[in-house]
Amino acid sequence: MSEKDNFSKKIVCVGAGYVGGPTMVVIANKCPNYKVTVVDISEERINAWNSNKLPIYEPGLKERVDKVRGQNLFFSTDIDENLAAADIIFVSVNTPTKNFGQGAGKASDLQFIEQTARRIKKNSTSPKIIVEKSTLPVRAAETMASILHSGDNSVRFEILSNPEFMAEGTAIRDMEEPDRILIGSHDTVSGNAARDELLKIYLKWVPRDKIITTNLWSSELSKLVANAFLAQRISSINSISALCEVTEADVSEVANAVGKDSRIGSKFLEAGVGFGGSCFRKDLLNLVYLCEYYKLDDVAKFWNSVVEINDNQMDRFVNCILKTMFRTLVDKKIAIFGFAFKPDTGDTRDAPAIYICKRLLEERARLSITDPHAISNAKKDLAGIDEGVEFIENPYEAARGAHGLALITEWSEYRSLDYQKIFDSMAKPSFIFDGRNHLDHQRLFEIGFNVYAIGRPPLTHI
Ligand code: NAD
Ligand code: UGA
Repeated sequence: MSEKDNFSKKIVCVGAGYVGGPTMVVIANKCPNYKVTVVDISEERINAWNSNKLPIYEPGLKERVDKVRGQNLFFSTDIDENLAAADIIFVSVNTPTKNFGQGAGKASDLQFIEQTARRIKKNSTSPKIIVEKSTLPVRAAETMASILHSGDNSVRFEILSNPEFMAEGTAIRDMEEPDRILIGSHDTVSGNAARDELLKIYLKWVPRDKIITTNLWSSELSKLVANAFLAQRISSINSISALCEVTEADVSEVANAVGKDSRIGSKFLEAGVGFGGSCFRKDLLNLVYLCEYYKLDDVAKFWNSVVEINDNQMDRFVNCILKTMFRTLVDKKIAIFGFAFKPDTGDTRDAPAIYICKRLLEERARLSITDPHAISNAKKDLAGIDEGVEFIENPYEAARGAHGLALITEWSEYRSLDYQKIFDSMAKPSFIFDGRNHLDHQRLFEIGFNVYAIGRPPLTHI
């Protein structure tokens, strides 16, 4: 039987990253009659997806890859051939903040999107549905359509917006049991037909009432706004943590009391060293740029303050370490517990740890960095400024001889370490700076540590 007979549709995803890889793994698992191929310009990434050591760490991912890879899930660098054969093309390429020219530092860099659109056009002889999975500025589909339908190519493309809301570390669960799926389309006969094709895929495992259909622009904008709202909650509670520290209120108690109001809700109110990850800052800045572009300066200022509070929170953390450790860190060893931007991922993109470590190194501290999954990325992030930095897998070894311990990522295993043993091996006085309010502070204090948390009064023997 030919391949055509085996599979009802061919899906191709451009971009084998944190979004493209896991989303296609889930679709391939849920839709055995679709052939799913993920393509990328990075040979290294594709080779890793085809190996036993996947390029990203995500709980549950490996088992699902093993189930379908080589059956209906394929990873390939042969972009042209796969695009030509595709019925539905998901675009999951990166859309980083532009770091050059007009809009540098704020606007989205859309070069990878444009390259993808041109490549699709070049390889298409049959109509295709193009699905925007990447996070894009509102009205990006218009640009994409202009490129795809330009020149003498008579092939018709229908563009859908289908933003991804999964979070790293819980990607598989978020995709298998999503809060909602959002599909934006044009309200035309062909737009609705394309939307129904995409609906057919999600309906294999998502209840219909969890699938929202909207117009294209609402869908594109909703993604930016969802991230902006989430980030705003974190900056809101972090701003209050600063007030707690000078008034002896406890930010966790405040968050709990406030979050019990069902109109507010309890999620995303964990104070910490600030949000990281590849998207919150990028998407907020993109929103700020869009508002400025449309001359909505007050709106831009509002959203920009969310980023400013986040930067301020990382500074406050470093300032607390410096002030507490007698205003000098020169040649003192600080153990850094956790480098990933959050637990259960090896991703360190825009991780607060990068900024915090850089500032500690400027103070000439020595660092011993430990993390269960992010050490190789940490090495890359600090390359060139890593004099005086050690990377150590074993947290007990990382803490040995340290004057201070700064917890930056709340890996669950850090809660069950033997802190008496850690205390005994550290220089005295021993300090713990819990940047995620993750540890049992009273117990640490009783062991002998001087404990500094976020938005809580310190527990100190000095
Ligand atoms: P990523 O950098 O991990 O992956 C993007 C991939 O696209 C890379 O492997 C890159 O080589 C490839 N690529 C770039 N240009 C290409 C081209 N012309 N042809 C083929 N491949 C190309 O990025 P990511 O984290 O997966 O994010 C992708 C998009 O999804 C972004 O817009 C991001 O904002 C959005 N998003 C990310 C997350 C997340 O948790 N990471 C969640 C939701 C949405
Ligand atoms: C976030 C969103 O949660 C996803 O819905 C979205 O799809 C994704 O961005 C994206 O567009 O990339 P992610 O960045 O993977 O997901 O992780 P989050 O769980 O949102 O955490 C982001 C950062 O906020 C982390 O550094 C985390 O430590 C921090 N955070 C989160 C807090 O400081 N406090 C909280 O209460 C929650």
